[in-house]
Amino acid sequence: MKKKLLIILSILIVVGGVYFTWTKTQKKEEPKEETSEKQEETPKETEKEEEKEEPKEEEVQPEEPEQPEEPIVEPSRHTNYPGTTSKGYTVEVIDGIAYINGILIANKTYSLPSDYYPGGLLNDFLNPYYEMQAAASNDGISLEIISGFRSYDDQDWIYNNYVDRDGKEAADRYSARPGHSEHQTGLAADINSLYQSWGETAEGIWLNTHCADYGFIIRYPQGKESITGYMYEPWHIRYVGKDLAQKLYNNGDWITLEEYFGITSQY
Ligand code: DAL
Ligand code: ZN
Repeated sequence: MKKKLLIILSILIVVGGVYFTWTKTQKKEEPKEETSEKQEETPKETEKEEEKEEPKEEEVQPEEPEQPEEPIVEPSRHTNYPGTTSKGYTVEVIDGIAYINGILIANKTYSLPSDYYPGGLLNDFLNPYYEMQAAASNDGISLEIISGFRSYDDQDWIYNNYVDRDGKEAADRYSARPGHSEHQTGLAADINSLYQSWGETAEGIWLNTHCADYGFIIRYPQGKESITGYMYEPWHIRYVGKDLAQKLYNNGDWITLEEYFGITSQY
C-alpha cells in the first residue's frame, strides 16, 4: 500500500510540476506575441501615413507658381515739369501735359499721359483743315489725311512694329514712342504720302507753302533732325494757330517749335 501511495504521489508531483511549468510558459509567450504585433503594425501605419503625405506635398508645390502674377506695369519714365525754357518761355503743366504760351508740346522731351485720349482729330484741327483742303482743291491739289488721331495704344503698336522691323535706334528717328506722338493730341495728321520725295511734288510744295495760312506747320522740316529728333516729314502737319504758324513759316525757312521756344526733344 505504501508503495502504491508513493507511486501515486510521485505521479501527482510530476504531473503537477509539468502543469505548473506549462502554465508559466503560456503566460510568458502571450504578452510577447502582443508586443511583437504592435511593434510591427506601428511602423507600417507610420510608413503608410508618410507615403500618403508625400505626394500630397508634391501636389501642392506645383500649384504655387499657378497663382496669378501681378501684371508688370512699366511706369512712364517721363514726367513733365513746369519751368522756364532757354529762351525765357514759361512751361506750364496742366493734367500732366506741357504747354508753352497755350501751345501743347509733345516731343521726345515732353510726353502725354497714357490715358490722354481726345478720341479723334479736334475741331481746332479739322475746321482749318477743311478750309485748306477746299483752297487746295481750287488750285487743283488734292489733300487727304492718311493718318490722323492715334491713341497711346495705337502708337505703342505702331512704334513696336517699327522697332521689330528696323531696330530701336532706326525707329526712334521716324516714329515716336507711345506717349510722345503728336498724333495722340488730335492736333496733327499725315497728308497724302509717307515718302520724303512727296515733298517735291506739286501737292507737297502746295502744302509747304500754304499750310501756315491756315494755322498749320510742317512739324519736322528738312535738315532739323538734330533739333526735332525726327527725320524730314513733309507730310506731317501740326495745328498751332495762324499767328505762330506764320512766324514759324519764316518765308519758307521753317523754324521748329523747339528752336522758337528754346526746348529740347530728347528721350
Ligand atoms: N512720325 C512721328 C514722329 C510720330 O510717330 O508721331
Ligand atoms: Zn505724322
